[in-house]
Amino acid sequence: MKKPLILIADDDNAIRLVLEKKFNRSGFYTKSTAKGKTLLAWIKNGEGDLVITDVIMEDSNGLELLPLIQNVRPDLPIIVMSGLNTIKTAIDASASGAYEYFPKPFDLDKVLDVVIKAFNYEKSGIKKTEAENILYDDMPIIGRSPAMQEVYRILAKVVASDLTVMIRGESGTGKELIAQALHDYSPRKDKPFIAINMAAIPRELIESELFGYERGAFTGADRSRKGKFEQADEGTLFLDEIGDMPLEAQTRLLRVLQDGCFTSLGGKKLIYTNVRIVTATHRNLSDLINDGLFREDLYYRLNVVPIFVPPLRERADDVPLLVHHFLNQFTDIGSEKKIIDANALTKLENYQWPGNVRELENLIKRIIILTPHEIIDLETINLYLSKFESINTKNVNISLGASVEKHLNKYFDLHKNELPASGLYNRIIHEVERPLIVKTLKLVKGNQLKASELLGINRNTLRKKIMYLDIDIGNNNVNI
Ligand SMILES: Nc1ncnc2c1ncn2[C@@H]1O[C@H](COP(=O)(O)OP(=O)(O)OP(=O)(O)O)[C@@H](O)[C@H]1O
Ligand SMILES: [Mg+2]
Repeated sequence: MKKPLILIADDDNAIRLVLEKKFNRSGFYTKSTAKGKTLLAWIKNGEGDLVITDVIMEDSNGLELLPLIQNVRPDLPIIVMSGLNTIKTAIDASASGAYEYFPKPFDLDKVLDVVIKAFNYEKSGIKKTEAENILYDDMPIIGRSPAMQEVYRILAKVVASDLTVMIRGESGTGKELIAQALHDYSPRKDKPFIAINMAAIPRELIESELFGYERGAFTGADRSRKGKFEQADEGTLFLDEIGDMPLEAQTRLLRVLQDGCFTSLGGKKLIYTNVRIVTATHRNLSDLINDGLFREDLYYRLNVVPIFVPPLRERADDVPLLVHHFLNQFTDIGSEKKIIDANALTKLENYQWPGNVRELENLIKRIIILTPHEIIDLETINLYLSKFESINTKNVNISLGASVEKHLNKYFDLHKNELPASGLYNRIIHEVERPLIVKTLKLVKGNQLKASELLGINRNTLRKKIMYLDIDIGNNNVNI
């Protein structure tokens, strides 16, 4: 096969050089230009096997070039890169049929992977699905950090499909917002978005809430009622806190996903459903699976497209944007918008945010309501943050034993009258052993001799534990 030729358009010389070097070394020919018009001329001339283009160039806009390129060479894969890192650019790129979108700065190896994939994809003859061009300017999700870019990239790829999405992330990171965006930008946007939170409904009512019931199905069912599945027909069903779904309901849900239909409680008629399922959880489902509390087969059905929403402390760059967004949002029309000073902002950027975006949102809301000052300074922030901190850290001072006991109580309660799977002793001990060893190794910078001394165990024993607890000790960075 002849060496493929990659056409590159970007008005940043440095980026062109880096890309050319990478691709030439990996066995591709390249040709690059700073001008969109030159790129188009090459393509019209029949040159090139793949295109990588920037969005904003001196003479043209890469996204506007896309339809022109597709007109003459519909099968030419196009990769779009942009420094305009909004969810809108990601969705625009995807909607105009780009094969892949990369926010800048990008990881060269990832770009290379995608290029290689694109050539195989071309050969397989699969056509790209045409995403609907439904775009809004006022984006609901704020944040341009690389971590959020990754979220947008996945979002943009799946909005037009019916793929099942599982959103993971700590509490308050914006999981529900993302679920809503998945619906709002999808072809189902004019149909219902129905959310149901497994943790907020009494466990015995979850099945009737989801699947509905007929009159007389149980005591108190004096009339029949449609369940959320039926209400969400043709739309999106958001199953929030999926980790809290009782096992019986999980079995039923799995069956619905397999068969595409179900019966209501006490009903005989098969009800066919056409819903897109989006789930969210802040819990570790692998642990729940190991503990026999979550069905593994259901997990695989739901986890088709995983989206991980990073905690706010890992995307401090987004804090100023969010602060301004919430200041705008909560300032009453007609009243003066408060200003935040640089020291106050730095404090917020360095704060740990255990409650993530929700905590930041509440903080700004309170400050707007409660402080008379025009300028939000460090003193104001310290005052309001300390009030929050005392709430957030209320339970931290209990002893390890008491904390373990609390967890065990919760664990046994979850099983109600049944017994957990056998092997309980080892499972629980591992749970405590693992963080202890990880923490110790971190303290001694990965030195196993020192760690074994500190722990008071034999070095070989430590090595074995590291192995069977699957602790990653690469590069001295001990990862959990
Ligand atoms: N990126 C964001 N931009 C703007 N607002 C956000 C963002 N992320 C979260 N929020 C706001 O923060 C609050 C919490 O978000 P959301 O309810 O989506 O979090 P969650 O991950 O579902 O939390 P939980 O696990 O507690 O249910 C909401 O008011 C939401 O509008
Ligand atoms: Mg939520």
